[in-house]
Amino acid sequence: MSQKLEFIPQHETFVAECRGIDWSKPITKEIKDEVQKGIDKYGVLIFRDTGLDDKRHIAFAALFGELDDMSPHVKVGRKLRLPDVEMFDVSNIDPDDNLITTSDPARIAMMKGNALWHSDLAFNSRRSGYSILRGHQLPPKGTGGETEFLDARQAYDDLSDEMKKRLDGLVGNNSMWHNRKLAAPDYYKELEPLDYPMSKHKLVTNHPATGRKMLFTTSYVHHIDGMSFEESQALVQPLLEHAGQPKYVCRVEWLNDGDMIMWDNTAVMHRAIYEGSYFGKYRRDMRRTTSFDMGPEAYGLNDPNKIVRQGLNPVQTDKIAEPDTRAPDTQAPAIKV
Ligand SMILES: [Fe+2]
Repeated sequence: MSQKLEFIPQHETFVAECRGIDWSKPITKEIKDEVQKGIDKYGVLIFRDTGLDDKRHIAFAALFGELDDMSPHVKVGRKLRLPDVEMFDVSNIDPDDNLITTSDPARIAMMKGNALWHSDLAFNSRRSGYSILRGHQLPPKGTGGETEFLDARQAYDDLSDEMKKRLDGLVGNNSMWHNRKLAAPDYYKELEPLDYPMSKHKLVTNHPATGRKMLFTTSYVHHIDGMSFEESQALVQPLLEHAGQPKYVCRVEWLNDGDMIMWDNTAVMHRAIYEGSYFGKYRRDMRRTTSFDMGPEAYGLNDPNKIVRQGLNPVQTDKIAEPDTRAPDTQAPAIKV
């Protein structure tokens, strides 16, 4: 018998809280199909108090596409805090289970990049579809750590016809290091993003299920094919400012351990909010699965036979910092401070 799910909108154009799933039971095809419809419509779904553990979280995520995992990072010798390679560690805890504090400049500089608007792993040759993030252990209420989302479909729809025409067919070169340098320019002063691989994705992409267009001008876009870095940034930054207007943004609070948020990286952008007092004081153990975009634009203009994953190679430097073992989304390079 099918379970009727309820979707309670949290914003005028996107984000809904999804109620009615009994997480103690297997997820049926009916439930999966309803969640699929919900995520296609809202772009972001909030599931409160799921009580899921890592294994069941992974099993739920696997229903919605092929899962990316950390095995390439394990192969290059990285140590993981979490036992399952499908679980990306986006906590403020290091692999030895210590709280990351402001006395760790490498990790602080790295984390700042996540506070800029992005789509998870858009710097890889095969981009992501769904991210599903679970608060395994949240900091005390009122100490911060929210996540913000923006409706990149609505932001595109509202552009002028002239701008839509200008963006048509433009290809962005996506770089994790560009995002890191944007967020922490002093720390990454000597880093040149062009020294590292970049992945090509169009600046406007079509949603695989609904066909809706989204602005894919994330903070990973370093330059646009046929344009200089300066010209590219002069186009991309105002677009990000446009998309980041409060009317397109929804801030979601994490309320209880076990809360889980699913978002569609082919419809929305997101960013971490580091305001608040939890940082350096309380554990915020966040765990994420990430599926690949299963649609026709997953590889952008990259060669599907030549997979590029950024964050696997250490940054060249004359000072070797401790090896970083965290997810590529949160990875800090070894670099001169
Ligand atoms: Fe992210």
